[in-house]
Amino acid sequence: MRPHVTINAAMSADGKISTHRRIQVRISGDDDFNRVDNMRASADAVMVGIGTVLADDPSLTVKSGQLRSEHKKRCGSEDPARIVVDSMARTPVDADIFKKGEGERIIAVCENAPQSRVEALQHMGARIITAGEQQVDLAGLMSELKALGIDTLMVEGGATLNWSLVSRGLVDEIYTYIGALVLGGEGAPTLVDGVGFADNTDAAGLELVSMERVDNGVLLHWHLLQKEHIK
Ligand SMILES: NC(=O)c1ccc[n+]([C@@H]2O[C@H](COP(=O)([O-])OP(=O)(O)OC[C@H]3O[C@@H](n4cnc5c(N)ncnc54)[C@H](OP(=O)(O)O)[C@@H]3O)[C@@H](O)[C@H]2O)c1
Repeated sequence: MRPHVTINAAMSADGKISTHRRIQVRISGDDDFNRVDNMRASADAVMVGIGTVLADDPSLTVKSGQLRSEHKKRCGSEDPARIVVDSMARTPVDADIFKKGEGERIIAVCENAPQSRVEALQHMGARIITAGEQQVDLAGLMSELKALGIDTLMVEGGATLNWSLVSRGLVDEIYTYIGALVLGGEGAPTLVDGVGFADNTDAAGLELVSMERVDNGVLLHWHLLQKEHIK
């Protein structure tokens, strides 16, 4: 058993989610920003990889005051649980996920994570989930999250985490906002990086659910097909 998993990302017209400098870039506009805020507010938890925390230091909080108070009434805190996939417990104790917002912070580490760093994160109030020996075992983590009552999980990147989730069949839906710009750069991260599938018989198949013009770009909503549905 695992939560329902939805990846959300903004990418350039050429599929890049950042520049070759791997810094946070504004790809979407206000309407898409509000859509993402709504998605966060309706998810039980939001997840990112440690690469995104180190690059962007996102708070992952809900921004709208109205959505924050609705979330508090419904779930007891203004923000969904925030999860970092971080094998070696490298999340800085002064990261914005600790400084901003309310609700549970969960750091998923592996058995080899240095104990002193794990304790520092616990000291910040984080719940630690240990799954896997060398790197976080995502399937194991998902079962633990489900057992904690997390039924809906929104994943906000980055490229490496997206690959691990998609390639392991742990994703149900993907929303991609395609912005009106070209970033280029062979070293710039794309929606899904990792080693990649060897050919299209292995590829993760998608069904297009909807497409919509938003701001000056387009929002695509995809369902992941189970392998037996891929022709
Ligand atoms: N445009 C957007 O929507 C958007 C959204 C988010 C991020 N971004 C961009 O994406 C870039 C960051 O992406 P990234 O690929 O470098 O980092 P990432 O996907 O956020 O994090 C990857 C890291 O997660 C850790 N991890 C632990 N277990 C894992 C597992 N089983 N599978 C995969 N990763 C695991 C690994 O580090 P350890 O081995 O140390 O644990 C890995 O290096 C930044 O440039 C950021 O700006 C863009």
